Amino acid sequence: MAWIIEKLVGKVALVTGAASGIGEEAVRLFAENGAFVVVADVQDELGHQVVASIGSEKVSYRHCDVRDEEQVEETVSYTLEKYGSLDILFSNAGIIGPLSGILDFDIEGFDNTMATNVRGVAATIKHAARAMVAKKIRGSIICTTSVAALLGGAGPHAYTISKHALVGLVRSACCELGAHGIRVNSISPFGIATPLSCKAYNLEPSEVEANSCALSNLKGITLKARHIAEAALFLASDDSAYISGHNLAVDGGFTVVNHSFSAF
Ligand SMILES: NC(=O)c1ccc[n+]([C@@H]2O[C@H](COP(=O)([O-])OP(=O)(O)OC[C@H]3O[C@@H](n4cnc5c(N)ncnc54)[C@H](O)[C@@H]3O)[C@@H](O)[C@H]2O)c1
Repeated sequence: MAWIIEKLVGKVALVTGAASGIGEEAVRLFAENGAFVVVADVQDELGHQVVASIGSEKVSYRHCDVRDEEQVEETVSYTLEKYGSLDILFSNAGIIGPLSGILDFDIEGFDNTMATNVRGVAATIKHAARAMVAKKIRGSIICTTSVAALLGGAGPHAYTISKHALVGLVRSACCELGAHGIRVNSISPFGIATPLSCKAYNLEPSEVEANSCALSNLKGITLKARHIAEAALFLASDDSAYISGHNLAVDGGFTVVNHSFSAF
């Protein structure tokens, strides 16, 4: 019999964007590793389904639109009341935003993308970090950026701008929160078949995966939400005890190679 080492025993995690895709996988993996998890999202039915499939003794659902600071504050308070702590924030909720070109830039859509992907994440960091500082918890905060945080042209304009800004937010928060022993990191995934990518481009999951595999640098493997959840588990656990301010690319090398020229 193989022994499973639980890496988050007794820890309490809050995951946003947790009803679907990467967030949902992270909830499952965190719970498998011994954590209590609050599933926060705006898709209530899906959120409750995630809880029902794992078990309500370990996870619970809370409606939270990250664009609304009051809801974020209430969700952090709920987490503290329910489980008595907050050790891990996985601020993962995000939207792709408008697909319009810069000549027809959808400014309202851009505002909503920034409100979700940047302002919303900032609100979660603010309230989670306040709780961690007040309770003297050496917590771990993880955000989901994207390969579009590192390159132009890897996503739509509003999305690319928001994810670049998110890297700045992570570095800035890391700077202040280091004094409290709180680590702040992010993960930059390459393309994964989730509702976000499938709906944006009106593609089936298999088509998104085929596109990603065709464009990828690392061949012979298909990137799944589980791979990102595993990176989040690493950053959440003591395995990454001295890592802070880092943007961990889970992209098979996509953002460090030149795709238009190869010497090999
Ligand atoms: N799928 C990819 O290819 C990919 C690649 C790089 C980065 N990402 C990032 O990963 C994160 C998760 O996306 P995913 O691919 O799992 O997509 P997804 O659509 O499966 O999950 C995103 C979740 O965020 C929730 N959400 C959206 N707006 C919200 C709000 N205002 N408040 C609370 N929750 C909200 C959605 O309801 C959804 O459940 C996002 O930040 C996304 O930008 C995804």
